[in-house]
Amino acid sequence: MPYEAILTEVRERVGLIRLNRPQQLNALNAQLMEEVATALEEFDRDENVGCIVITGDERAFAAGADIKEMAGASAVDMLTGDSISRWDRIKKIKKPIVAAVSGWCLGGGCEVAMACDIIVASESAQFGQPEINLGVMPGAGGTQRLTRAIGKSKAMEMVLTGRTLSAREAEQAGLVSRVAPVEVYLDEALKLAGEIASRAPIAIRLAKEAVNKAYEMPLTDGLDYERRLFYFLFATEDQKEGMQAFVDKRPAEWKGR
Ligand code: CAA
Repeated sequence: MPYEAILTEVRERVGLIRLNRPQQLNALNAQLMEEVATALEEFDRDENVGCIVITGDERAFAAGADIKEMAGASAVDMLTGDSISRWDRIKKIKKPIVAAVSGWCLGGGCEVAMACDIIVASESAQFGQPEINLGVMPGAGGTQRLTRAIGKSKAMEMVLTGRTLSAREAEQAGLVSRVAPVEVYLDEALKLAGEIASRAPIAIRLAKEAVNKAYEMPLTDGLDYERRLFYFLFATEDQKEGMQAFVDKRPAEWKGR
């Protein structure tokens, strides 16, 4: 399907989604979020894609939900329109998603990045939840995912004051996995995604699922869940191939079966 607010392409086994409203700092309006969710689902179904990267541009990953679109809405409009439920579609994607973040990553932008599995940041990235300055609060995961990622005290300060974290601060706090110079952050993210896409697809899928369960389950249940997925992988051809290749001292050839 033709998209207007995003650009998509497949590079080797990596599906790339670029948010493309540069004049509005990639503010996330309803059309853009619908297109992001649809593109993610298309890549999730595409056997030629093993990992997905979402990015914006150097100036902004995304400066938040589109304030102009929301400004006149009533509570009933927000409740019945429930536009944020569209964002939940990101959580249902089975393939790993890497957010490649440069510049502003604010409000809903930070929430989209946190809904991804790994964040790679450029040195210019600024992460924040500034909704408090608009007389509201985060509404798409900012109070929940940020708190789990960086702890209560730091998250509380960000949410209550709108203060931003630099890329380095975000890395130290555990929000991002690595920081790269602006010129190469997207290449770094694509390289990382390519590495993930070259691994055994079913093991990747279940490993992502298990890590994400750590946010949702008590430890004993999570360990039990993990163990079942681990045992299940012994039913795959890729487990036989991976272990035989190790014994034979040769690279494994994954089939995704
Ligand atoms: N929504 C709509 N338009 C936005 C936007 C947003 N979130 N952020 C920036 N823009 C637009 C600006 O209105 C401006 O458009 P015009 O040229 O038509 O005036 C254009 O993008 C460029 O922005 P600025 O001129 O403001 O650029 P700047 O470099 O001076 O400032 C900024 C950059 C500090 C990021 C500033 O734009 C800003 O504060 N943006 C809003 C950030 C924000 O509050 N985000 C939270 C949104 S609410 C939310 O996300 C709710 C949720 O949890 C779901």
